[in-house]
Amino acid sequence: MEHLHASTKHILLGVTGGIAAYKTAELIRLLVKQGHTVQVVMTEAATHFITATTLQALSGRPVFIDAWDQRIDNGMPHIGLSRDADVILVAPASADFMAKLAHGFANDLLSTLCLARTCPLMIAPAMNKQMWENPATQRQCAQLIADGIIFLGPDAGEQACGEVGQGRMLEPLEMLEGLAAHFTPKLLAGKKIMITAGATMEMIDPVRGLTNLSSGKMGFALALVASRMGAEVTLIYSHTQVPPPVVSQRHHVRTADDMYHTVMQHIADQDVFIAVAAVADYKPNTIQPQKIKKSEASLTIKLIKNKDILAEVASLPNPPYCVGFAAETEPLIVHATQKRLAKRVPLMVANQVDAAMGHDHNTVTLIDDNGEYAIATAHKTTIAQHILTHLKMRLDQG
Ligand code: CTP
Repeated sequence: MEHLHASTKHILLGVTGGIAAYKTAELIRLLVKQGHTVQVVMTEAATHFITATTLQALSGRPVFIDAWDQRIDNGMPHIGLSRDADVILVAPASADFMAKLAHGFANDLLSTLCLARTCPLMIAPAMNKQMWENPATQRQCAQLIADGIIFLGPDAGEQACGEVGQGRMLEPLEMLEGLAAHFTPKLLAGKKIMITAGATMEMIDPVRGLTNLSSGKMGFALALVASRMGAEVTLIYSHTQVPPPVVSQRHHVRTADDMYHTVMQHIADQDVFIAVAAVADYKPNTIQPQKIKKSEASLTIKLIKNKDILAEVASLPNPPYCVGFAAETEPLIVHATQKRLAKRVPLMVANQVDAAMGHDHNTVTLIDDNGEYAIATAHKTTIAQHILTHLKMRLDQG
């Protein structure tokens, strides 16, 4: 999910010498697109992998490399460049640069900036797997963690050198997510939140099924933002149009029955249950074991009712705080209020079906015991932030 949803920041982006430097170009593009300002500082080695001209064009600001650069008025670029930064992110961070950081070296502009910083420092290591696994690098890592430096990755996978292993720099979108998580206040720390998302699929025969148009985007946005806010998220998702976010626990299911059983298996210690999944209300009475042939002129499938997962959870003896979604046509609020009372959930999120399905934006109204709260049309991650902030307020009120 590409949306940062943090207010705009000033990021000092350090680039050191590694082939992963080419990914930094894309990272800058994404950051600038979201309204952040990016000040690039490169090491001399980095310029062998990507040009300052490229990064200058993408960031729209002059790039600095040399500690003796005269473009900063007071002649102290190591101070002048970093004082208004919200964070310094070094991506890629080479093994050599990590060693420098661990030992407090200040023999070029970027290492001096890092040593003189007054803001948090994040690094996205990138190196060959042998270099990463080398005890010297691991020693530096332990020291950097102890010093409070925040690591983004590295990841495991195929490397530019042809080897496969740990040491690959995170993808630009993953680094963006790391930054977003860093800047999100941890309002939900210590809370366990279960979220259902996506469209269930009720099988008719081994290759066919009944499903619906839910994309999974709203449920995934809630899972992502709840995670950024520090919650331990259990995501139970069925068929979706987009990949699920990385959260504490993920369970992929297919049918409403699978979803029901998986929810019940993990519900016991949850503080909150948010049912976003578009669960099929009905399933075929029997699933044909063999593929149905088109021999008959017509075909009748008898459907029987599925369990209502949200209503079942809400009626547990000691239920978590339950949030339901009501996708409705007009009159929206009337239908959603009826559904809230029928399912006995404290908070219902009403949304117009046509406004939300498959789109990145949504328009919702929150309905609880205290009244109705309309939220203006926004990206689903922003809507998620509103819902979770409202929920946090209700949890605090007990
Ligand atoms: N829900 C659920 N299990 C079901 C059906 C719905 O957990 N078997 C949850 C959804 O995740 C959503 C809420 O209940 O949070 C409302 O779902 P919706 O399908 O709109 O409500 P229904 O009760 O099925 O009403 P109807 O289809 O008649 O509008």
